[in-house]
Amino acid sequence: MPSHQSSSMSSKGLLAVTLVAVLAVLTPSTNATTASRRMRMSDIETIERRQANSEWWQAGIKHQGIAAHNDNPTGYKVFRNVKDYGAKGDGSTDDTEAIQKAIADGNRCGGNGCDSSTITPAFVYIPPGTYKVSKAINVHWYSQIVGDPINRPILKGAPNFSGMALLDADPSVNGVSWYVNQNSFFRSVRNIVLDTTDVANGNPTGLHWQVSQATSLVNVRFVQGPKGQGIYMENGSGGFMSDLEFIGGKFGAYMGNQQFMSRNLTFSGCETGIGMSWNWHWTFQGLNIDNCKVGIDIASAENNVGSIIVLDSKFSNTGIAVKSGRKATGNTPTAVNSVVLDNVELNNVQTAVGDGSSAILAGGSKTIDLWGQGRQYDKSGAGTDVQGDLKRAFPKPKALLDQKGRILQRSRPLYTDLKPAQIISVRDQGAKGDGKTDDTAAIQKIFQTYGGKTDNLIYFDHGTYLIADTVQIPVNTRVMGEIWSVISASGPAFQDANKPKAVFRVGEPGQTGIVEMSELLFQTKGAQPGAVLLEWNSRDPENQQGANGMWDVFFRVGGGGGSDMGPDVCPGTSTTKPSDDKKCMGSFLHLHLTKQASAYIENSWAWTADHHLDKVFNQVTVYNGRGILNEASQGPVWMYAAAAEHNVFYQYQLNGAKNVFMGMIQSEAPYYQSIPKAPAPYTPLPDWSDPDYKNCNGDKNCAKSWGMRVINSSDVMIYGAGLYSFFENYSTDCVKEGNGICSDHALEILKSKNIAFYNYNTVSTKNMVDLDGKSMAPFTENRNKFCSTIAHLSIS
Ligand SMILES: *[C@@H]1O[C@H](CO)[C@@H](O)[C@H](O)[C@H]1NC(C)=O
Ligand SMILES: *[C@@H]1O[C@H](CO)[C@@H](O)[C@H](O)[C@H]1NC(C)=O
Ligand SMILES: *[C@@H]1O[C@H](CO)[C@@H](O)[C@H](O)[C@H]1NC(C)=O
Ligand SMILES: *[C@@H]1O[C@H](CO)[C@@H](O)[C@H](O)[C@H]1NC(C)=O
Ligand SMILES: *[C@@H]1O[C@H](CO)[C@@H](O)[C@H](O)[C@H]1NC(C)=O
Repeated sequence: MPSHQSSSMSSKGLLAVTLVAVLAVLTPSTNATTASRRMRMSDIETIERRQANSEWWQAGIKHQGIAAHNDNPTGYKVFRNVKDYGAKGDGSTDDTEAIQKAIADGNRCGGNGCDSSTITPAFVYIPPGTYKVSKAINVHWYSQIVGDPINRPILKGAPNFSGMALLDADPSVNGVSWYVNQNSFFRSVRNIVLDTTDVANGNPTGLHWQVSQATSLVNVRFVQGPKGQGIYMENGSGGFMSDLEFIGGKFGAYMGNQQFMSRNLTFSGCETGIGMSWNWHWTFQGLNIDNCKVGIDIASAENNVGSIIVLDSKFSNTGIAVKSGRKATGNTPTAVNSVVLDNVELNNVQTAVGDGSSAILAGGSKTIDLWGQGRQYDKSGAGTDVQGDLKRAFPKPKALLDQKGRILQRSRPLYTDLKPAQIISVRDQGAKGDGKTDDTAAIQKIFQTYGGKTDNLIYFDHGTYLIADTVQIPVNTRVMGEIWSVISASGPAFQDANKPKAVFRVGEPGQTGIVEMSELLFQTKGAQPGAVLLEWNSRDPENQQGANGMWDVFFRVGGGGGSDMGPDVCPGTSTTKPSDDKKCMGSFLHLHLTKQASAYIENSWAWTADHHLDKVFNQVTVYNGRGILNEASQGPVWMYAAAAEHNVFYQYQLNGAKNVFMGMIQSEAPYYQSIPKAPAPYTPLPDWSDPDYKNCNGDKNCAKSWGMRVINSSDVMIYGAGLYSFFENYSTDCVKEGNGICSDHALEILKSKNIAFYNYNTVSTKNMVDLDGKSMAPFTENRNKFCSTIAHLSIS
């Protein structure tokens, strides 16, 4: 809402609107009578200041994002303000239909047989206010629901609210979900308060969040009564969430997912903070659980919870911090309920880990340095059961820690204080982003003119920007997209699979400076087998940990609008293949962190498509050379929730890397392998330390992509990994409920020291670890429900 509009409102009306909002934010349970009694002059001034501050630049700027590949690119609205659709936000009007209209406008994907769509993105903005909601609001695929970060709007459930949740990301009609749960990509909810305290009946829920990769849930406050829950998530394949607060509820959050990373979650006054029905793995960092009966409950009756990590966290005034049914020995399956607690502070906790009747680990007020239960390996290759203190094989590298000794956390910058002159719209500056025009020169010029100055924010209005040659980004540059603005490699510069070139290149080797990047998506227009989509050289200045950061930056090769590698060109089944492999060789490498780089990466996904997301949802065969390559010889490199899937040589490779933290990494081998056998159709390049697969001698389970390779590296800590292999020649017959073998290997460690994995999971992989040429840790020793899990692997 531009400022001139609010000043033309009557000041009385303005005050009434904002008062409700502000007081509700400050004190959610305060009723109107107490509120008016508390209103003094200083309150009014505070409110007026807040209102003035709430003129958030991203709401007020010219909205010129275009969905370049939509059937109607000029008519389709990317940005929507719910007030333009009739929402009042006055606390009394029922705003359900208006908000629903704002989300659904433009023939979007959901409830109409559409499983996914990259060509109907919607950034749905909710200004400050209290919005009454009486029915579940269905949230379509590729939506971002974004509140004003300065004065977060409140969605408040009406007393007669009915439905799944205030916001429902995967509605179900007659038992059929809108979306396949593992394909629920590109969704975000940020800067909002979801309040169900007024709802009279049932177990009211703030958010139904059944999602997968490329999703984020950030800066949300959930408030619920004693029967309610903030989040309900039954499954999915995610994902990332951070900076959430849960107040009250039978459950703060009730969640299940294949894998997930949660950072900086606070729970208070919940019966159970986190109820967990099912997972393969979940990493929590920076949990703060206070005044709950149970902190985290993973004691599912059917042994459906695979593993969790609780890192750098605190439990206070709580009965049982972690409720788990695991026994000291003789568990079925062997690795069920694997738990790692690392740097966990207890303050007045009765039981640290217990099954509800007896304690496995006593409570009290103390700090647990490192404790675990599950399976444990060291370099000897002999696996043992463990339930007790774990021996830390090497100290945590200082370069990764904050001043309190925790792994550094840095949330995505909100940039709330920017003035209009600081926002540099690339479209204003001549870039087209229409998916047709070569924008290389325009964008290079914008970075030359406005980059290198940390006052500016270079803003990519939504669109698809074609890049035909390397764009150099100077250090001290901040870049942000709008609902994942697309940078698409397109040109003869990127055609040589043996002579790669960067598409976006951040800094020069050896340069220090600040670089922040958020909400961009890198793809290719057709085959660009010599493209390194993003090369990162810049490193943090002295004493500025995490100054080089990347948040919500995704890579998508094939699969979406403008990729030119749909099922017509790159069909993907065991009987239908591309007629010309060269047309389907996506890129050389998604992300390269070079030797002198350092980087903080949060919520990324280096995805080479296995299926198409638009109009036809068929499988595709896209050959992408490599996933994420980290060669930063000093680091530090932090990766929170950085997934990599379906790349030919490897999903992750650390080569000569040092000081690495990875929190919840997840990968999958390509579905087409072993036809062709890795590394076809690429040629291994010794300069890039590629694996050559020569020792496979053509064996099909051997000639499959590595999930991760760690070469000549040290001081690497992985908190939660899922390196999966589900296919042979497009068939999942090899999986056999996790008891079969699709790949011989997943993780290779060569000539490295001080490497620690906590809760490392594989699926259908014969040996979980290959150490200096020796295969060890057969998955049969470490069976969990569906995965196989090693709670602690340390190579010192
Ligand atoms: C909820 O109550 C409001 C009146 O407060 C009414 O307008 C609305 O129709 C009711 N909704 C439902 C689903 O009963
Ligand atoms: C995921 O949850 C839905 C309910 O929303 C259920 O129908 C489906 O079977 C579940 N899928 C998996 C793979 O667990
Ligand atoms: C954690 O989230 C809260 C909001 O819930 C925020 O104020 C705080 O800065 C965050 N802390 C970190 C370390 O990110
Ligand atoms: C791959 O699968 C298809 C379909 O099942 C089959 O016809 C073909 O023979 C398989 N290829 C090999 C080499 O096994
Ligand atoms: C190992 O990595 C270090 C640091 O990057 C590098 O200097 C050295 O040359 C590498 N050694 C080998 C054998 O690659």
